[in-house]
Amino acid sequence: MTDRRLIEDSLPLGAVSKESRREKSLRHGHISTLHIWWARRPLAGCRAAVYAALRPAPTNSDQRRAEHTLIADLVKWEVTDPATMDAGVVAKAKRNLISPDAKGARRIPVVLDPFAGGGAIPLEAERLGCHAIANDLNPVAHIIQLATLEYAQNFSDLAGSSGSSLFSDNERPLIAEALEWSVGAIRQQVERDVKHFYQSTDGEVVIGYIWARTIQCPNPACRVEIPLMGSWWLCKKPKKKVALKPITESTSKIIEFEVLEGDEIDFDPHKCSGYFFLNFMQL
Ligand SMILES: C[S@@+](CC[C@H](N)C(=O)[O-])C[C@H]1O[C@@H](n2cnc3c(N)ncnc32)[C@H](O)[C@@H]1O
Repeated sequence: MTDRRLIEDSLPLGAVSKESRREKSLRHGHISTLHIWWARRPLAGCRAAVYAALRPAPTNSDQRRAEHTLIADLVKWEVTDPATMDAGVVAKAKRNLISPDAKGARRIPVVLDPFAGGGAIPLEAERLGCHAIANDLNPVAHIIQLATLEYAQNFSDLAGSSGSSLFSDNERPLIAEALEWSVGAIRQQVERDVKHFYQSTDGEVVIGYIWARTIQCPNPACRVEIPLMGSWWLCKKPKKKVALKPITESTSKIIEFEVLEGDEIDFDPHKCSGYFFLNFMQL
């Protein structure tokens, strides 16, 4: 006997795609705002995939239609927003997934994602009431998963009142201390492993580099290594403007940089490499 699943039968792809696309413009409450993760999958698509992988394939068109209607509602962003959460839809999906066994005990599905990246699949599995197990080779992904799947659920109420807390008044300071210790330990380990890549001059703490491909100036008299930048803006917020200014000094033939802020910015950071270094070559 085959155990065909709903995901092998059909999905309301139009509704799932529409909601998945919409997530790209969400800036509040989405896990993508926690930390960038390049291969992150849309939550709506993962929610539909987890649900449909765990549900049996329909045996007639009425069942199929009912499942599609439920999924089309379930993938809406509003369902995940605590302010507008439609507990009815999530609760119905959970009821469909968490079925009692022959003895009446609730069987909670276990979802394992061995390549969980930014944690979209395990997060959606947890939202649907499953036990989720996540793993990733990449330590950055692992930390994102801890923050998304464990810290938020376990520690979110530490700062609040003890009324609805998972922890007693005696436990809360200890748990807060443990969390602080864990974050400190991760920080120390990261420093130990990668600090030497971020060498500092003048005792400054370097937290990142601007990375650019370079090209050598084709002029035989020049031959300077030119960074290819689309823009020299480092920060372009209404109240904070910071730009990187390449200093093209003809004798050293090495391009140095200066960080300018606000009114100090005396050039157009939108003018890209070519414009700047054309001037340099003419020096
Ligand atoms: C396409 S991404 C997963 C994206 C994820 N579904 C999400 O929504 O963010 C694939 C992940 O597999 C991880 N990976 C690759 N090889 C692995 C291995 N051998 N063991 C564990 N993780 C691995 C990568 O680090 C990457 O994060």
